[in-house]
Amino acid sequence: MKQSMVRFAQNFPKPRDLGEELLLIHDKVLAQKSPAFRTWSKQIKLRYAVDAGEGLKSVDMFPEHIAKIMALCENTSVKKLTVVVVGGGSVGDFGGFVASILKRGVRLVHLPSTWLAAIDSAHGGKTALNVGGAKNQIGTFYPASEIVLVKPLLFAQPPARTFEAFGELLKIALLHGGPLWAELSKEFEVNADTLWKYLSAAINAKYKIVNKDPEEKSGVRHALNLGHTLGHVLESYYELPHGIAINYGLEFALRWSVEKKIMAVGEFDKFQRQPVAAYLLSASADQLLDVKANALKEFRRLLLNDKKKTKSETLRFVFLKKPGQVSIQEVHVDDVLVEIIRQREEELNG
Ligand SMILES: NC(=O)c1ccc[n+]([C@@H]2O[C@H](COP(=O)([O-])OP(=O)(O)OC[C@H]3O[C@@H](n4cnc5c(N)ncnc54)[C@H](O)[C@@H]3O)[C@@H](O)[C@H]2O)c1
Ligand SMILES: [Zn+2]
Repeated sequence: MKQSMVRFAQNFPKPRDLGEELLLIHDKVLAQKSPAFRTWSKQIKLRYAVDAGEGLKSVDMFPEHIAKIMALCENTSVKKLTVVVVGGGSVGDFGGFVASILKRGVRLVHLPSTWLAAIDSAHGGKTALNVGGAKNQIGTFYPASEIVLVKPLLFAQPPARTFEAFGELLKIALLHGGPLWAELSKEFEVNADTLWKYLSAAINAKYKIVNKDPEEKSGVRHALNLGHTLGHVLESYYELPHGIAINYGLEFALRWSVEKKIMAVGEFDKFQRQPVAAYLLSASADQLLDVKANALKEFRRLLLNDKKKTKSETLRFVFLKKPGQVSIQEVHVDDVLVEIIRQREEELNG
């Protein structure tokens, strides 16, 4: 798989540096949120504005979108076309998919506009659409030729989004260990400047994993699901933002790693003493305390729905030995539920 070029920019790039003929697919809100984007985007003739979110990724709406996009590109030589996608993860998944199938594939450039997209979803080449309400059921592996991280675009986000993205940054730092974890762990404050500071190291850490298993065949890439097993359940059940749910899922995974003696108690204590650990959310303190029996039944269904399911009732769970070392193990879905109850009781009993 080809490697994407990643570029950091203090300002929007010149359109002519992005490709010969451009089709801009962008999140509609950006024109209001970022005056700089509004001015810049007017230089590109072919523009397709979309409403971000899971609805955009719905396969039911896709025929309508692609017909409009084809009509827009009517007088363009497809060989020369570059699709430039500006938006968060949903716009990236949609726009990447469009680029991958338009005339069997045209050049793709991402300008991520959310921290989540900048740290995670714009990299690694996964595109996706949802089918019948189930997320990411179809898609392609189609890495962008180029990803440009435009500072003023990312800083146009409201501060609350910073904390949402922190869960993913923490995940990648824990997976990678080394200097990324050593430095991030000492941070007392998480804000846009913190994210910008660690963006390059976090992206490199993701590529280190993705490059070993670009199309998710060997299982190495599965490590990127650290915190995501319970995270996805909480995201659906409590309708939490993805990054917040992952933050909760990370604490669950760490505590389960200790319970299974995969992570030494001393290692977990060391983790908890780091300044940045104050930003970790405890699922058992905040989310799981009022879990009723019927919720557990729903959790079970959601866990088995998740695509990480292997055999009928088992799933692959990512445990952490220490920052930089994971252990991926098959667990039964009921083991996850038992652990949820155990962590909840541990919390209740102080
Ligand atoms: N392809 C992958 O590898 C991958 C990885 C993780 C997540 N995802 C996907 O990413 C999506 C979630 O990503 P997301 O949170 O970025 O989603 P999103 O695209 O829905 O954006 C979230 C919200 O932020 C707004 N927004 C975007 N840029 C903004 C800006 N600069 N200023 C202010 N508001 C802005 C959007 O309009 C939207 O309301 C999900 O669909 C998920 O499945 C994909
Ligand atoms: Zn994630």
